[in-house]
Amino acid sequence: MLIALFPGDGIGPEIVAQAKRVLDALAIPGIRYEEGLVGGAAYKAVGHPLPPETLELAKRADAILFGAVGDPDCDSLERHLRPEQAILGLRKELGLFSNLRPAKVFPELADASALKQEVASAIDLLIVRETNGDVYFGEKGMRRTPEGLREGYDIMSYNEEQVRRIAHQGFQAARARRGKLCSVDKANVLETSQLWRDVVIEVSADYPDVALSHMYVDNAAMQLVRNPGQFDVIVTGNLFGDILSDQASMCVGSIGMLASATLNDSNQGLYEPIHGSAPDIAGQGKANPLATVLSAGMMLRYSLNLPEQADRIEAAVAKALADGARSFDLGGTMNTVEMGDAVLAALN
Ligand code: IPM
Ligand code: MG
Repeated sequence: MLIALFPGDGIGPEIVAQAKRVLDALAIPGIRYEEGLVGGAAYKAVGHPLPPETLELAKRADAILFGAVGDPDCDSLERHLRPEQAILGLRKELGLFSNLRPAKVFPELADASALKQEVASAIDLLIVRETNGDVYFGEKGMRRTPEGLREGYDIMSYNEEQVRRIAHQGFQAARARRGKLCSVDKANVLETSQLWRDVVIEVSADYPDVALSHMYVDNAAMQLVRNPGQFDVIVTGNLFGDILSDQASMCVGSIGMLASATLNDSNQGLYEPIHGSAPDIAGQGKANPLATVLSAGMMLRYSLNLPEQADRIEAAVAKALADGARSFDLGGTMNTVEMGDAVLAALN
């Protein structure tokens, strides 16, 4: 089993190092690691955010453990050279279309949520976000209007096959959980969303046991704060899912806690915290590694078929929190390595 490690930019190397320590402690037979350059780090070293060697390693690997990409030094580069193209390119090239972003409150952290404790403690939801289409991958550019004004554009589109396959992912996830699926769109305004809604309804015929509802994205943003306990699985497009998953993270307590998996048709997966590279705190040991540690757990569960080991990681994170481990984002004073130490101590 080959794991590609792509630490990337900012806090990426610090958090991936802690997840790797936890994986090493599990001493999984036959697992091996190769590291690759991505993002701004890759651009600075070899002139491209997703170098061919990195892509080749990603394709060969059973799973990818990814830190974060994004570097303010690269903000003025042409778009195809920006760090973010590494993650977008990996999602596209490997067909990683099904992005699973669970959000659940650890009881110990209910007081860290931006919400009232009784509202926050009910959160146990999964966002299933499509990551191969939408406005992210449509035609985009800069042009001039007839009056000579600069105009930026990004075309939003989904074809029915793209919607169908992510809808199936949503229904199957709901079936394995509490049987409720909420499809989030903006069908009152967007044609893309009208097709989305029509296709989700078509697919629902295969899942009579799942209760399907539809919600406009603006209302979903509001409901996530008002009554997040109502959600089981949310299925949505690339852009809405990007936004709602960041929002869900703060409802849970900290963006430093949310893990994610992005799978393709063959269960090859990319695993990453949902947060970014946080350049403002990079290199200071302030980053919370738990989202990455939990992402490594998802990797063991979904791509390597090691559910017991995944359970051990999750239990160790819960125990570390119960024992009082708190990084800065959680109102504590423990640095990145100390948080890793706490998980390792809880593992044994
Ligand atoms: C995410 C990130 C990415 C996205 C960025 C880094 C391109 O925000 O994974 O949520 O927008 O998908
Ligand atoms: Mg995001």
